[in-house]
Amino acid sequence: MFTDRTFIVTGGGSGIGRAIALALGAAGACVVVTGRTPEKLDETVALLGEQGADGIAVPTDVRDPGAVDALVEAAVHHYGAVHGLVNNAAGNFVAPGIDLSPNGWKAVVDIVLNGSFYCTRAVARQMRNQGTGGSILSVIASYAWHGHPGTVHSAAAKAGVLAMTRTLAVELAPLGIRLNCIAPGPTETKGAGAALWADDTARAHVLSSVPAGRFADPTEVADASLFVLGDRASYMTGECLTLDGGQWLGKQVYGQ
Ligand code: HXC
Repeated sequence: MFTDRTFIVTGGGSGIGRAIALALGAAGACVVVTGRTPEKLDETVALLGEQGADGIAVPTDVRDPGAVDALVEAAVHHYGAVHGLVNNAAGNFVAPGIDLSPNGWKAVVDIVLNGSFYCTRAVARQMRNQGTGGSILSVIASYAWHGHPGTVHSAAAKAGVLAMTRTLAVELAPLGIRLNCIAPGPTETKGAGAALWADDTARAHVLSSVPAGRFADPTEVADASLFVLGDRASYMTGECLTLDGGQWLGKQVYGQ
């Protein structure tokens, strides 16, 4: 289903982004892995190679719109076209909103919201030029709609990404471009662990809020992502698929 298609994955050097990149490669796609740390991207590309998949690393800071345009140009130069994008790059830390510095707010909103828009815009323009259509997936979180204390920057940015997705899903449907979101709950990755549940107490607290009683594995998020990105979801656009072990519904029932 993904053979002869090229996908760009932001934040593809670790965690959920790496899992999605590897799943895309295993399904036959060419994968352009991007992020800020070249060594981590090279590791993902090496793992793609080990499974017989084709990938390249293009280090990019998604906060820079010029660099994002260059990323898409590099993908087209190497593979001839771009058929999909995964907006996965994120930044996060826990801080009470009242104490959050303007720079802290800006750092997270720039990566999550502005970066997702710059990448979406550049890839959609390329898809329009190609006349191929395509599929764009953004990784958000359920606190985009219910909020969460300590993460006002991330919650606001993810809510913006959801609104962007719904808006552009309508604008771009005539071009055959689908835009959707996934909202993973707590997922076992180093990045989220360090940013959001750094010690055993915080980890136990998060775990107690998940009715399924466990964290997600990044491969579970990748499997669902491939469904949304691929042709089996060809009539799905402007949608958000939640994968959180019942966490946010549980909060409505149990008030956790
Ligand atoms: C308070 C903090 C802080 C912290 C940074 N800042 N960390 N403030 N508490 N723990 C402030 C800094 O003081 C600075 O403000 C501003 O944020 C920018 O910090 P820099 O380090 O200069 O920025 P930068 O190097 O760009 O780093 C961006 C970052 C960083 C967001 C701060 O954490 C990052 O890049 N993380 C990427 C990895 C990551 O977080 N992944 C997890 C995503 S998981 P001042 O005012 O001092 O200049 C996720 C899952 C959500 O999002 C869903 C869960 C269910």
